[in-house]
Amino acid sequence: METKDQQINRRAFIRGGAAFAGGLGAMIATGNSSLIGAVPPSDKITVGIIGVGARAQQLMDSMLTIPGLEIVSVSDAYTGRVKRAISRANGRPKAVKDYRQILRDKSVDAVVIATPDHWHKKMAIDAVEAGKDVYIEKPLTYKVEEGLEIIRAVKANDRVFQVGSQGIASDIQQKAREVIGSGKLGQITMIRAYFNRNTAGGAWIYPIPPDANRKTVDWEKFLGPAPQRAFDLPRFFRWRCYQDYSGGIATDLFVHLCTTIHYLMDVPAPEQVMGMGGLYRWRTSRDVPDSINASLKYREGFMVNMSGTFNNTMSSGSGFQVLGTEGSLEIGGKLTFHPESPVENDRWVVRSWEKKLEDAYYADPKLIEYETKARAAAAAARPEVIMAGSGGNATTAHLRNWVGCIKNRNTPLENAEVGHRACSVAHMVNQSIGTGNSVYWDFDRQTTKKW
Ligand SMILES: NC(=O)c1ccc[n+]([C@@H]2O[C@H](COP(=O)([O-])OP(=O)(O)OC[C@H]3O[C@@H](n4cnc5c(N)ncnc54)[C@H](O)[C@@H]3O)[C@@H](O)[C@H]2O)c1
Repeated sequence: METKDQQINRRAFIRGGAAFAGGLGAMIATGNSSLIGAVPPSDKITVGIIGVGARAQQLMDSMLTIPGLEIVSVSDAYTGRVKRAISRANGRPKAVKDYRQILRDKSVDAVVIATPDHWHKKMAIDAVEAGKDVYIEKPLTYKVEEGLEIIRAVKANDRVFQVGSQGIASDIQQKAREVIGSGKLGQITMIRAYFNRNTAGGAWIYPIPPDANRKTVDWEKFLGPAPQRAFDLPRFFRWRCYQDYSGGIATDLFVHLCTTIHYLMDVPAPEQVMGMGGLYRWRTSRDVPDSINASLKYREGFMVNMSGTFNNTMSSGSGFQVLGTEGSLEIGGKLTFHPESPVENDRWVVRSWEKKLEDAYYADPKLIEYETKARAAAAAARPEVIMAGSGGNATTAHLRNWVGCIKNRNTPLENAEVGHRACSVAHMVNQSIGTGNSVYWDFDRQTTKKW
């Protein structure tokens, strides 16, 4: 017999499943990465890249495999990267000193923005106002409020805008969403998500190129809207370690986890967020935490336990465990379903009863039948590998989704709203760490609640 709460939860879950199916159908109609993306070679899209650092050069590798995309201009604040970007694209793009020149160039259809986070809002708004379609790297924003400004500008200028948490375009995450939407896991009340590292590079202490100096690095261009400071190469090349340019683990890594959780569960945002952070190991290199524990509570009836540390990578660096009454879905390098086969066993309680009552309780044929079946089911339960790998290159799939949407003027998988909400969770984690209080989401205003 279900309790009233269980009935409500079950109904909510079933309703959620129906809404989910609609969401998935709508998504496929508007451009599932594996269904669209074949761009006819004759239909050329010219792209300028703003910020051709480490990530942009990965994006370039993917872009160069997409027919019809042509990288025509690049801009950066360090000369070495401009040179490498041009050679990476076989000498085709021209170097542009200031990103606004790319935006003024009428022959450029779209831009990729892959600069540090403190530049994202200004460059995103400038780009859509200049009429360019945009692929912008995650995290969409440096502060929560910036997301609303970006959303308004994207709408007002009717641009195709994709935010770069590419995981959701991967085959593995699309399959995971399908499995969850099918109800196979039963009622889901908890998700564990984590992102761990244990190297200096993993903790963003990247090597600094030996030719970096006052002449090759445009410090003022890098600073832009950030607070003024003296020339500082570690800040330029390891900007994620500093609050002036980044929100650290939350905005750099948790934003990927949040984007995926919202996608898997078909939910917009958590109602409540709490975080705790500590700087324990990499103390001399940063002013952001190197360990974070966060809790997110969703009004759809589940919670998330999200953690990240730069001290250990036991089992795997990052992944998800989606925990349901019928089984768990583990998403890492592969997709595995672990069935639940619970067996009621109250012996430790019943043995405190009078002996004859205990004996009668366990002599009940119904109980014997239940235990026999339940134990056999538990013994037979085996993990089921649903996908042995993660599928193809998620970055290429995400870019293809964007390109397909540019062609047919559809909405990409991670539009400005989706990017804003995922990134806002990361900001809420940091706000909670800073204040020691919970931070709440205002679903009407699409921003954090004011008290
Ligand atoms: N989606 C992913 O998996 C992923 C992975 C890595 C990085 N990223 C994101 O990509 C972005 C860039 O990160 P990165 O690792 O490439 O950093 P990076 O430091 O290697 O590259 C950033 C580049 O921006 C340039 N830049 C700074 N200010 C500029 C300006 N005003 N005009 C032109 N160029 C400017 C810098 O010179 C630098 O080369 C960040 O938002 C990061 O979060 C995403």
